[in-house]
Parts: sequence; structure tokens; C-alpha cells
Amino acid sequence: MLDLLFDDADDAAFFAGLHRHHDGAHRQPGGLPRLTLPPHAPSRAWLKVEQALAWRGWDTPELQGRLALDLGCAPGGASLALLDRGMRVTGVDTGDMDEAVLRHDSGAFRHLRTPVGRLDPARLPAGVSLILCDINLAPPEVLPHIERLQRALRAPRLILTLKLNIPRWRAAG
Ligand SMILES: C[S@@+](CC[C@H](N)C(=O)[O-])C[C@H]1O[C@@H](n2cnc3c(N)ncnc32)[C@H](O)[C@@H]1O
Repeated sequence: MLDLLFDDADDAAFFAGLHRHHDGAHRQPGGLPRLTLPPHAPSRAWLKVEQALAWRGWDTPELQGRLALDLGCAPGGASLALLDRGMRVTGVDTGDMDEAVLRHDSGAFRHLRTPVGRLDPARLPAGVSLILCDINLAPPEVLPHIERLQRALRAPRLILTLKLNIPRWRAAG
């Protein structure tokens, strides 16, 4: 498959690439679908989660009706994307959620206004299909929480946004 990436400007350079396509690879160049933030999305996390779902091949009806645990969910762009996809969402954040999420037509959002460190997995509903984490803490702080929760929940899908703003953490990845 030939990939061509253009800038909007008339005289801008363009990039050409060639890759051999195979099952499981995303059709879009760079694995990134060309998405636009919808007006009802309260944050750009809507784009992050939609891109991650598409890149992983999880942007299918398979997730409809399933449960997502959204850690660091406020104000709610990511939760809204999942609700729009027909998922049920339990969101964890001490911050306020946007009305678009709280008043979503599905009524399928539940807000746990607690820090992730106090979240008891035994009190969560069974069958979490996706854990999403977008908590703005450093990876050494947030990853132990993910590990503790995942040991109990065994979710088959995880999407983690890690804030790799220190070169040492990027090298470790
Ligand atoms: C980048 S924002 C999340 C954006 C969100 N995913 C969305 O879709 O709009 C990071 C969030 O992490 C939350 N946060 C920070 N520390 C937390 C903690 N210990 N437990 C739960 N949430 C936390 C903040 O309150 C903040 O809302």
C-alpha cells in the first residue's frame, strides 16, 4: 500500500511511504483515522480514545453494551466517546463531569468521585471489558494503581495514556 501525507498549504512538502498490508494492520496511514472533534465532546480525550480504538481494531460494534472503567474521566471526552459507542461507563475522578456525559441519552454513565488509590475493585460491577486511564499523574504513581486493579478485574482491553514528559521514562518504555 502506498501512503501519501499532504499538508494543507499549496507549496508544502509531502511524504510518501510504502507498506505491505496484512490482517490486523490499520488501513489508515500511520494507523490514525482522520477524525474531527464533535461539538458535544467536552475534551480532546474524545479524539485520543477514538484513535486508540481504531488503531487497536476495537472500533467495532463488539463493545456495545459492555462495561468500561474510565480512570481520570473528568470532564468526560473519553467517556462520551464510549457512551456514544453504546458502552456502559463507570468513571473515576474527583473532578466534575460535563453535562453531556451526565445527561447522556443512554443513562449508562456512573460517576465515582474518588481518587483512584481509594478505588476498591471488589465494589465494581463484574465484567469490565475495557480499562481506560488518563490520569495526569507520573507513570510511577499511576501504574501501580493500574496493576492492582487489573489483577482483580482482568479486563481484556486496556488503553493507558502515560505522561512521558521525562526522557528516562521514554527510554524505559
Ligand atoms: C487529562 S485529565 C482527563 C481527561 C478525561 N480523560 C476526559 O476524557 O476528559 C486528567 C484527570 O485525572 C484526574 N486525576 C488526577 N489524579 C487523580 C487520582 N488520583 N484519581 C482519579 N483521578 C485523578 C484529574 O482530576 C483530571 O480530571
